[in-house]
Amino acid sequence: MKVLVIHGPNLNLLGAREKKIYGKITLSAINTDLAVLAKKHKIAIEFYQSNIEGEIVTEIQKAQKKFDYIILNPGAYTHYSIAIRDAISGVKARVIEVHLSNIHAREKFRRESIIAPVCIGQIAGFGRDSYRLALEYILAR
Ligand code: DQA
Repeated sequence: MKVLVIHGPNLNLLGAREKKIYGKITLSAINTDLAVLAKKHKIAIEFYQSNIEGEIVTEIQKAQKKFDYIILNPGAYTHYSIAIRDAISGVKARVIEVHLSNIHAREKFRRESIIAPVCIGQIAGFGRDSYRLALEYILAR
């Protein structure tokens, strides 16, 4: 079993960015949580972060051959990237969409995910645990 975690734009700023919404957790602490859990269950996990839509599209295309699942936080691209949505459906990637914040309880423009319909499911609002819960789902397969 191989899992790729993709973090979208501005998630590299976690820990410093809008702490009231996203908390003090850093991206590397989230990745460490997941790496520890993956190691415990003897599965391979890799991490990728990009602020650039096209790079995320390329990573999803490449991941198809190498990974069984993708845990994806598309950041703001959640709400408008048809290119990322098409990449997921185009290569039939098995993707779990995650968000730290509950996007459904925030501004109107964040309440719609155009990515969610091509994903297995969406986990939002549990902070760092959103990622852990996604990995727990994969571990239970
Ligand atoms: C986010 C929610 C998005 O609306 C926002 O643009 C982000 C982070 C989250 O994890 O809560 O960058 O994906």
